[in-house]
Order: sequence, then structure tokens, then C-alpha cells
Amino acid sequence: MKKNIAVIRGDGIGPEITVQAINVLNAVAERYGHEFIYDEVAMGGVAIDAYGEPLPDEMLEKCKAADAVLLGAVGGPKWNGVSGDKRPEKGLLKLRAGLGVYSNNRPAKIWKQLSSASPLRPEIVQKGIDFIIVRELIGGIYFGEHKTENAGGQLVATDVLTYSESEIKRIGRIGFETARKRRGRLCSVEKSNVLDSSRLWNKVMRSLAAEYPDVQLTEMLVDNCAMQIVKDPSQFDVIVTENMFGDILSDEASMITGSIGMIPSSSLGDGKRGLYEPIHGSAPDIAGKDVANPIGTILSAAMMLRYSFDMDEEADAVENAVSSVLDKGFRTADIYGKEAGTTLCECSEIGKKITENIGKRK
Ligand code: IPM
Ligand code: MG
Repeated sequence: MKKNIAVIRGDGIGPEITVQAINVLNAVAERYGHEFIYDEVAMGGVAIDAYGEPLPDEMLEKCKAADAVLLGAVGGPKWNGVSGDKRPEKGLLKLRAGLGVYSNNRPAKIWKQLSSASPLRPEIVQKGIDFIIVRELIGGIYFGEHKTENAGGQLVATDVLTYSESEIKRIGRIGFETARKRRGRLCSVEKSNVLDSSRLWNKVMRSLAAEYPDVQLTEMLVDNCAMQIVKDPSQFDVIVTENMFGDILSDEASMITGSIGMIPSSSLGDGKRGLYEPIHGSAPDIAGKDVANPIGTILSAAMMLRYSFDMDEEADAVENAVSSVLDKGFRTADIYGKEAGTTLCECSEIGKKITENIGKRK
């Protein structure tokens, strides 16, 4: 098969981790007889420097024309002084909205090889950590009006949080469908004791529940959920939540699995075209040092193979290659705990080892 992939290397560690994922994709192409064509897209700080804006329209068009988009990370202190509507992150939000990818899927699963890297107590980890956060990605407070104005001699800032029934319904369906394919439990996370948007959220989720009798729907307040994720993560199968709650909870969920550097994500809309990115940021403090963990990006590429290209066997091959490299004890700094039998690796080294471990078609 021939596929067009728009590649956004981005800022900070973005370029280092993205190249490792591309090497892995090239190994898949070679071993499985596919052709992947890459189209480079400038977004984030690099685009601000080159074009004066974080995602020029023609760059968004390139992404829309591709079969899928692979993204490293954007942002960094260099662009901190840039006004809110021109920040690197604005490029990412424009990309997500422009592609219409409303459903962001962030798995929190502990790799058996890394259980000692979890900051949770062993008896909690042993009960199992394997859940998915389905995060609404193109609505809510991220996309409401943002303004700062002078009122009565002081500055007043406003950010508006809006959700419509149809926006809640479409992400709700993804939550139910995802739970149906897993262990059949969906936890809807909200703040209905304070927010109208959450009360509407619950109403829509309850109305959908009738269509999914095989899925058990529960509701949980977001503050309680933050606590339950560290108290007993084994209770969760699928969490569905709005944009900002999902942003916050997915960082927390990633950490209990050992490292945010391990976690991939997929973002999909109604079609097959998706956006694939690790959930971590551009980590400017370690950029250019070849110490970042490329596995989140490599696993994002695996999700691309699975969800956008229907290449399940190839996706399995990538995930198995990651698993076997971890089995052999290779670790980047973020997951290295000096245990016997483990070896500290650079970003490029672990990437190379994963590439070499991609098997051939069976
Ligand atoms: C994420 C990131 C982004 C978000 C930032 C970079 C805008 O934190 O993908 O989780 O808040 O969505
Ligand atoms: Mg985040």
C-alpha cells in the first residue's frame, strides 16, 4: 500500500523523537512491502520563526491532503513572549480543529517490564493498570472566547467553556464504542456539582446509555477521578471526558505507568485520517542531548498503522519490537532505574534497536 504521511517534527525534542518513528515506519515499509511518502510540515516555534505564525494555512492544507499526520512536539521558552493567539500551541489547536479530530485516545497501560518505574506502591500496580482516556479534543474551554481587558482599573481575563449536545454526543459515542470493544465499563468524568456544561454532559451520556446496554456507565467528578487514578487505577476501563479535564488527567495517568515518554495518542474525526502524537511536550531542557524517550512517538506511529491504515499486523510488529527491546533491558533515562540487567540508552540507540527488532510478515 502507498500512504502519504504529513510529518511535523516541531520544536525541542520533537525532531529527535520524530526521526526515530520515521525510521521505524521505513523498516515497516521495507519489511511489509509498503510505500510511505513523507511531506514535511512546519508548525509551532519553527513556523513562527520562518513564517511569523504557528501554522500557516498552506501547512494545514498539506496535513488535510495526507492520509495521516505524525507529530513530534511543539513549543519552548523561546516563544514564551509571543502573544496568545500566535503561540506555538495555537498551531496545534488550529491543526486539531482544522482536521476535525474531535476524539483523542490516550491509553494508560503499564508495560510489565516497567512496573518498577511506576511511582505507585507495588500492591497498587499489581492490581493492573490498563485504561484509556477518551478526551474531547476540539471543543470546550480550549476553543471558547479568550480575552483580557481593562475593567475598572485592572485587567480581567476571560475564557469561555461551551459544549453543545451534538459535540457531547459524538465523543460520548466514541466512549461507548471503545468500552464495548474492551471490558465494557465507561466512566464519564465531569464537574456537574459546579458546571452547567457538565450537567448537560451527563444528560447526553445518560441518554446514549440506552443504546449501549452492554456497557456499564458510571459518572465521576473530576477531582475525585484525579484521586481514584492514584488510589486504585485498576477500577478504570474507559474514561470519557471533556477537553481540559482530559488534558490534565492524561498527564496524571501517564505518570503512574512509569513515564509520560511512553504514551502515544491518536486523534480521529469521522474519517480515517488521523493525527498521531506522543502526549508529552517538547521538553526544551533536554532537547538536542539525545536523551529523550522516542517510544511514545514510535507507539503513535503504530497507532497510525492500526487506525488510519488498517495495518494491524504491522502495528503489532512495532509494538512487539518495543516490547522485546524493553525485555532485553534497554531503557532511556526517564525509565532507567539501574535495575540489574538493564542498560541506559540514548534516544537514537533505543530507536535503532526497535527498528532492528521489527519482524517480517508471518
Ligand atoms: C496535550 C498538550 C496540549 C494540550 C498543549 C501543548 C496545547 O498538553 O496534547 O496534552 O493542552 O492539548
Ligand atoms: Mg497535555
